[in-house]
Parts: sequence; C-alpha cells; structure tokens
Amino acid sequence: MNIVLMGLPGAGKGTQADKIVEKYAIPHISTGDMFRAAIKDGTELGLKAKSFMDQGALVPDEVTIGIVRDRLSKPDCEKGFLLDGFPRTVPQAEALDALLTDLGKSIEHVLNIQVEQDELIKRLTGRRICKVCGTAYHLVFNPPAKDGLCDKDGGELYQRADDNPETVTNRLEVNMKQTQPLLDFYDNKGVLTNIDGQQDITKVFADLDALLQGNRI
Ligand code: AP5
Repeated sequence: MNIVLMGLPGAGKGTQADKIVEKYAIPHISTGDMFRAAIKDGTELGLKAKSFMDQGALVPDEVTIGIVRDRLSKPDCEKGFLLDGFPRTVPQAEALDALLTDLGKSIEHVLNIQVEQDELIKRLTGRRICKVCGTAYHLVFNPPAKDGLCDKDGGELYQRADDNPETVTNRLEVNMKQTQPLLDFYDNKGVLTNIDGQQDITKVFADLDALLQGNRI
C-alpha cells in the first residue's frame, strides 16, 4: 500500500504514522525525521536543511526531492510505504509522480488530517519527544506516565527546536500557503480523503484504518 499522509504542522501525522506502519508493516518515510537525523549527524544535508528548519521555512525542493528519490528506491519500499510530510509543494508532488511512474508504482491514498489553527499551536508548543525512540507526547493531551520520561524506553523527553511559539507561527503560515494547491492536485486525481484530526488519537486512527481497508468513514 502506497500512502501519503498530509496535514499542517501538529495535525498528528507522526502520531498516526507510527500506528499505520506498525499495523501495515510498511516503512515510515518522514522528510522532517530524515532532516533532523542529518542535522544530528552533522552531514552536508543536515547543514543545508538546518537554516531553513530553524526559521520554520521549507527546505528547497531540489534537496527534498533528492532524498525522497533515494529512499523510495530502497528494497524495503517494494511492499509499500507511508510518506509523512512529503510532498509539501506542487513541484514535489509532480516529482513524486514522475519518480513513481519510473518505478512502476502510484499513490493509492492521500489522507489529509484536518485540525484548526488554534489547536495546532497548542499541540506544537506542548509537544515533547523521546530522545531515544522519537515517540511524541504532549504535556496535556498525551502525557507520559512519568514526567519527562518515555513510556516505552524511559528515554528523556525534549522539545523540538522548531516548536517555540515564534517558529511555530511561521511554520503554519508557510505550510498553509502550500497546502491548498497540493490538496487540489490530489483531489483532481481522485485519491484525496480528509479526516477529522480534532478527535482523540485512537478515533483518528480508527478512521484512517477504516479508509485504508476500503471503508467509508
Ligand atoms: P516535519 O518534521 O514534517 O514537521 P511538521 O510537518 O511541521 O509536522 P510535525 O512533525 O510538527 O507535526 P505532526 O503532524 O507530525 O504532529 P505530531 O503527530 O507530532 O517538518 C519539520 C521541518 O522540516 C519543516 O518545517 C521544513 O523545514 C522541513 N521539511 C520537512 N519536510 C519537508 C518537505 N517535504 N519540503 C520542504 N521542507 C520540509 O503531533 C503533534 C502533537 O500533538 C504531539 O504532542 C501529539 O502528542 C499531539 N497529538 C497528536 N494527535 C493528537 C490528537 N488527535 N489529539 C490531541 N493531541 C494530539
């Protein structure tokens, strides 16, 4: 199954992606995670991405398309994949189409998680992430059992550098500008479904899962 998960920053893409890849046993391809790993490792890609991410801006299309092309060509994507946070612009979507055509594949589902802006700001500024496994928590909406520690492995929780209120505002503005043309692009292809992301985490997953099994929600 080849899936694209869309939604503004904080919509719950990463939270739901973890559940989908566990159930459907497909790789989770998050461009944001790939950039953060490159920054941590101090690679050339990381150096290129960091200045854009710190401002809440998009990393240039040619850089982003290149890393997705390499990743989708790996053997583990043969059985399907979940793209999270890519494509984010129409040129990225067109490049993805061309790449998939070359590989003899296509996108079956584009799932767009919809959440109001006020709620997104609360989610992003309250998010905390495990240093060890990357699981996302929220101080209020999805707190860990023990303050500051991951439920899965006891790892220390930290706040992402781009989750401060100023950068969050810019990220939302930048992404909102790009989103409608991208939604139109996939709606015209007949693969887009909108999901109510303001329900609790398990209900959002139940809706996504039903859609992936070919049911209506
Ligand atoms: P990326 O890492 O993709 O970040 P993002 O799109 O800003 O999305 P987030 O990871 O912040 O949010 P999410 O939707 O995954 O929400 P989450 O599940 O964590 O990108 C970061 C940067 O990288 C970009 O700004 C850009 O610079 C660059 N980049 C990445 N891809 C790019 C591309 N294609 N092109 C160019 N540049 C690119 O949930 C958020 C919080 O809410 C958590 O605390 C969670 O516990 C909580 N939560 C989740 N669901 C619910 C719910 N239903 N109810 C209550 N709380 C919930």
